[in-house]
Amino acid sequence: MNDVRWGVLGAGWLVNQATAGAIHHAEGATLQATAARDLARAEATQPVRAYADYRAVIDSPDVDAVYICLSNDAHLTWIRAALAAGKHVLCEKPMVLTAADAELAFAEATAAGLLLVEATWSRWHPRMRRLVDVVTSGGLGEVEAFLGTFTFPAVPEGNYRLSAEHGGGALYDIGIYPLHALYACLPDVEEVGVVAVDRDLGGTEVDLTTKAALTWPNHPSGSGAASVVASFTMPESQRLVVRGAESETQIDDDQAFTSWRQASQLRVGAHVESFAPVDAYQVMFEEVSSLIRGGEGWALPPRDSLRVARTVDAIRAAR
Ligand SMILES: NC(=O)c1ccc[n+]([C@@H]2O[C@H](COP(=O)([O-])OP(=O)(O)OC[C@H]3O[C@@H](n4cnc5c(N)ncnc54)[C@H](OP(=O)(O)O)[C@@H]3O)[C@@H](O)[C@H]2O)c1
Repeated sequence: MNDVRWGVLGAGWLVNQATAGAIHHAEGATLQATAARDLARAEATQPVRAYADYRAVIDSPDVDAVYICLSNDAHLTWIRAALAAGKHVLCEKPMVLTAADAELAFAEATAAGLLLVEATWSRWHPRMRRLVDVVTSGGLGEVEAFLGTFTFPAVPEGNYRLSAEHGGGALYDIGIYPLHALYACLPDVEEVGVVAVDRDLGGTEVDLTTKAALTWPNHPSGSGAASVVASFTMPESQRLVVRGAESETQIDDDQAFTSWRQASQLRVGAHVESFAPVDAYQVMFEEVSSLIRGGEGWALPPRDSLRVARTVDAIRAAR
């Protein structure tokens, strides 16, 4: 079967650090085209063709699917343009900034018969998939409590993460990782309730820290409780603990959401499971490419992107 020919929009930090290489290494995928505002940066990703114009990639007849890696505010515009041009889309997280935009984007993808997937790469990591399997198969008993934290201490001046106009802020940037993990562990919960929110802007225009207490109806205990923390000002740490009625699972290292090409472990009760080093970005491109070609593969379900987007809306509204 032919490779899926990917067109990439943007050649910033993530494309250079990880995702251009992941496409080059992925089975069933070719880096056909990259566009960046600066042609030299697009060329540096070593595509078959480089452009200084995003539109040129979208309109290219030799591009089958578009990977969007632009600042968050630009995602919706380019998702819609790519879908309208008949391309499948894999878009960096957060896919869009509101649940209404997510609904619109998925509706257009469905109408066009095209795949639209949010590239929350942590969900493709075999350890995360195992954690989700352990929890959703009932191995821990009913989920009673969840702790998900993703924090690091500084964002460089001028980075879009500090700009409200560009969809910055800790909740959009890193808070969505624990929220995706939470909803993956709660397949029967349509929407968690927001109990309390603490957001710290620290004199900037975006949330430097967001802490959210969340809840959902549970049986027989009454309710489950989740605590999610995202911060650009707290020490570097990523933790994930899922407490069931009978046992718990947790990721002990500080790479719960960004383990990349390194061996990793998952604690399930008293037992520790080991995972070989893996590039979850590459797994993501391989599986989405396979789905595009009509083969086997897993993609983050639209329902999960929608559930997370609604909760992000609710947390932002509670501010
Ligand atoms: N999955 C992950 O592990 C992960 C990690 C980091 C980031 N991300 C996501 O990936 C996306 C890009 O993040 P990044 O860290 O690579 O950011 P970045 O280095 O700042 O790149 C952002 C890209 O946005 C484009 N852009 C267009 N107009 C812009 C403007 N007015 N101001 C700033 N940028 C503009 C730039 O494209 P040109 O190249 O054309 O100039 C730039 O390459 C974001 O959605 C982010 O949430 C995901």
